[in-house]
Amino acid sequence: MAAALVAALVAAVATLAGTASASPAEGSSRCPRSPSTRPPSNCSRRRTWSSDPVAARRTGYVPGEDTEWVTVKYGWTDPSDDDWIGVFSPSEFNSSATCPNPWPAEEPYLCTAPIKYQFANYSANYIYWGKGSIRLQLINQRSDFSFALFTGGLDDPKLIAVSEPISFKNPKAPVFPRLAQGKSHDEMTVTWTSGYDISEAYPFVEWGALVAGASQPQQTTRAPAGTLTFNQGSMCGEPARTVGWRDPGFIHTAFLRDLWPNKQYYYRIGHELPDGSVVWGKPYSFRAPPSPGQKSLQRIIVFGDMGKAERDGSNEYAAYQPGSLNTTDALISDLDNYDIVFHIGDMPYANGYISQWDQFTAQVAPITATKPYMVASGNHERDWPDTAAFWDVEDSGGECGVPAETYYYYPAENRANFWYKVDYGMFRFCVADSEHDWRVGTPQYEFIEHCLSTVDRKHQPWLIFATHRVLGYSSNAWYAGEGSFEEPEGRENLQKLWQKYRVDIAYFGHVHNYERTCPMYQNQCMTSEKSHYSGTMNGTIFVVAGGGGCHLSDYTTAIPKWSIYRDHDFGFTKLTAFNHSSLLFEYKKSSDGKVYDSFTIHRDYRDVLRCVHDSCFPTTLAT
Ligand SMILES: [Fe+2]
Repeated sequence: MAAALVAALVAAVATLAGTASASPAEGSSRCPRSPSTRPPSNCSRRRTWSSDPVAARRTGYVPGEDTEWVTVKYGWTDPSDDDWIGVFSPSEFNSSATCPNPWPAEEPYLCTAPIKYQFANYSANYIYWGKGSIRLQLINQRSDFSFALFTGGLDDPKLIAVSEPISFKNPKAPVFPRLAQGKSHDEMTVTWTSGYDISEAYPFVEWGALVAGASQPQQTTRAPAGTLTFNQGSMCGEPARTVGWRDPGFIHTAFLRDLWPNKQYYYRIGHELPDGSVVWGKPYSFRAPPSPGQKSLQRIIVFGDMGKAERDGSNEYAAYQPGSLNTTDALISDLDNYDIVFHIGDMPYANGYISQWDQFTAQVAPITATKPYMVASGNHERDWPDTAAFWDVEDSGGECGVPAETYYYYPAENRANFWYKVDYGMFRFCVADSEHDWRVGTPQYEFIEHCLSTVDRKHQPWLIFATHRVLGYSSNAWYAGEGSFEEPEGRENLQKLWQKYRVDIAYFGHVHNYERTCPMYQNQCMTSEKSHYSGTMNGTIFVVAGGGGCHLSDYTTAIPKWSIYRDHDFGFTKLTAFNHSSLLFEYKKSSDGKVYDSFTIHRDYRDVLRCVHDSCFPTTLAT
């Protein structure tokens, strides 16, 4: 049996080595090898890949700086349905089944996690001809790539052959810029990833204001950037600390300050090398946020739980976000019609496979490069036992918040505490962290009350609370089974604040569907109106917008009275403030971008001031 296996492997190598005309016998004596190691460099096999631009085939480089598609060609004389191609980066990898680390928790069971993989029979007629060809999208991840053919399925993989490594022309290139509003409205932060440590080059952003219609500024200035990274030892558990670890490179953030409200700005990320030359990223532009209270059209996207997926159809660890690309593409195709995005937790679902943070930042880059992308922490970013998270679960795959708190900037006082406020024109957002204790008496409770209580509602009438887990209401089947319709101790601690400070909408994710309630307090609808709210403000509307892309969650069959609209599909929501008296809420499906639920709020300042149940302090009888 062993001899037959070796022979089969050798035959496979020969087919890979040759062109279509090479016979297994020709190669069988040239590249004998152990299945657990990469082939020697003097092996006569030729590489099994080619990339689309002809130049790439000649040079061995993948051109482009952030993403590129390549074609991988392969073959074997004994093809089977469970053969698969692994993509590895760095190109050197350990295909052994005997790992120094604990056994990988998830297939494919390899000691080095492939960044993704595809079954060989994805290529038509692979089983019949023993030859295949697949197109794969690579993103620039600061290292080279190799492709390996395995047989034996994902549970008992045996290496057959490995390609020669390929690389982007500049693997260190600055890529995937992501904007976020800073601690004040006149500050935009630009965060990006590169392979340049501060000892190699100075990171900066070149930027300047644009006059209407221009693509280049008349003047530019340079803002220096800070540099962060994290290491394997900062991971709290597996797989992040073991098989899922991958070097994150360097993450830079620059602060562009004193922005003029609503003005359009040009920017470009770069690194100044010791000789004074600059390695540039691509140029982009953004519109500066409105000043607090400013009356202008303001449009905001809110959703959670989007995740990532492979555009080339390949598989990866933690791949259970089938709606992710639909949502991403719906937002990319509508960039002209919104101004800022809130992704309220569960971002890539990397779950400890750190490579997927690069993948996620690449996927959303067309959005984040031009719109402030404000993030919140979810269980898949933060939760890990015995790390002071509120939940004693392993949902972060050992990340314990480190990648999320480094890859993305958000204006928290301490980024380990994922709560912050954002003033955006007529809106105030209070973003909370449901993975840390929010109950009465905690620092986070103090933050929430401070955020809700310090907004001037005559100028910023639209007050929004957002956090990842459902601390309000959801008729999700699991919560209904618990009898709570929420996470434990959620609204019991917070509803008095929402009522007292007259929160318009409380947003949640975590439950992977859409649901919208009536304006309510203490389980009661405060009005029978369903879609056009006006006059005295008397309750908070609760919205679950967790259908960003992760597999969908079921509802309970009995619909609670407070549940106005439910949709078991992928989607996102949009808030549009036209002025201080009119707000439009819309829920859109990711599949077609069309509106499936909506409501409006029309009111004046006095409607917020007017006392309703539990909203006012006692008053005096004196006159
Ligand atoms: Fe979640």
